[in-house]
Amino acid sequence: MYKKRTIIISNRLPVRIEKHKGVLKFIPSEGGLATGLGSIYKKDNNIWIGWPGYIPDSEEEKEIIKEELKELNLIPVFLTIEQIEGYYEGFSNEVLWPIFHHRLSYAVYKQENWQYYKEVNQAFCDTIWAQQLDAKDEIWIHDYQLMLLPKLIRQDDEKISIGYFQHIPFPPDEIFRCIPWRNELLEGLLGADLIAFHTYNDTQHFLNACTHIIGLTIKNNSLQVGDRSVYAEVFPMGIDYNKFSSLAESPEVQNRARAIKEQYQNRKIILSIDRLDYSKGILERLHAFENFLINWPEYHSQVVLYMLVVPSRDTVPQYKRLRDEIDRMAGHINAVYGTNAWTPIAYYYNTYPVEELSALYTAADICLVTSLRDGMNLVCKEYIASKENSLGVLILSELAGASKELLDAIQVNPNAINEISNAIAQALQMPKEEQRKRMDDSIEIVEKFNINHWVKLFFNRLREIKIIQRNEM
Ligand code: G6P
Repeated sequence: MYKKRTIIISNRLPVRIEKHKGVLKFIPSEGGLATGLGSIYKKDNNIWIGWPGYIPDSEEEKEIIKEELKELNLIPVFLTIEQIEGYYEGFSNEVLWPIFHHRLSYAVYKQENWQYYKEVNQAFCDTIWAQQLDAKDEIWIHDYQLMLLPKLIRQDDEKISIGYFQHIPFPPDEIFRCIPWRNELLEGLLGADLIAFHTYNDTQHFLNACTHIIGLTIKNNSLQVGDRSVYAEVFPMGIDYNKFSSLAESPEVQNRARAIKEQYQNRKIILSIDRLDYSKGILERLHAFENFLINWPEYHSQVVLYMLVVPSRDTVPQYKRLRDEIDRMAGHINAVYGTNAWTPIAYYYNTYPVEELSALYTAADICLVTSLRDGMNLVCKEYIASKENSLGVLILSELAGASKELLDAIQVNPNAINEISNAIAQALQMPKEEQRKRMDDSIEIVEKFNINHWVKLFFNRLREIKIIQRNEM
């Protein structure tokens, strides 16, 4: 009997390839998705298809990489430099990313990049079919880089199960409508059976786009696409709770956390960790921190903003500019407010191993998340999971998906500089009992709705939908 397979597809594979001094290195991702889906794609004959982030030198090297990855149940889609520029940088990150994060003026519409987007989505589709798919297999596509893929796969097989998850926000339909290729993108997604988002608002925006822009109707809570019922639903993503809570308890992390506290002479540590991205509100956070220093001078030398910015998409012009502005602003604050004995901001532009992140979470008195738009934001959940035995306060943007779940955080509007600076003071003054109560309530949520729970719910629902669809035929 045929054993059905699960096929995970995302732009990036959970392993990145780099070459150092002529030697290929396969670096596993620490990301939430990679851990959450690890137990699935590594099992049986399941696979994960994606880009390994590396351009091979020769056909021979390509074959070596394919063989090595095959051992890990991974199938690479190799991209040329032109495809990386057109599909990844140009279309995914200069059209979809800014529009989906409400930054209309950052969008750069170029017909040739749309062509590359189509070409690469087709290349993913060809790679999938090269795996000898069966109608019983289940396919789970991840994120905005692959919005056309569900339809491309569906064209070749009417019955196959296709799920799609969007990790970033879906904008209101009038914003989405600005994209010249809006119809094709929606139709692409509608090849899936289940289209899932982190929040109710994202889902509603997507449904509105389908009804307002391409005139679909909704019946029995599903979109009517020809004679297929397609479902758009909410599945807030969780983290690997056990990994973060047990890391925080390990003696190595505990020692390192103590060392960090000592390094900052037991000043209150305000922590922020983000990928370099304009959607994260890093500049706004710096303005708010300056405002805090102006309004609350009694806290001078009592606090430090530990700001870790993880390098990302540095070939896209807006990201390069943002980095310069952050450098300038952090330098300005340290120069104006710092003293011989105190540097207000410890700013690092770097990638840290998860153990170091865990030590920072453990040591931090406050975690400050000020995203201007964020699909979910997992940093705040990782902070909470690291706090079973240490105190801390989360300040969270109300425009991050996580704000819908973490109601015990101090929630702020990330554009309201005063509100953020007052929230910092409120967090610093919060009594220990209140900190514990809020943290315990948040822990309960993050622990229960963890990544494994998310994966299970998604597949259960996809299977249910296939049964509903079969009964409708
Ligand atoms: C976000 C997106 C992911 C993406 C990640 C890193 O979390 O939702 O799809 O992989 O950023 O960005 P990058 O462009 O480096 O893959």
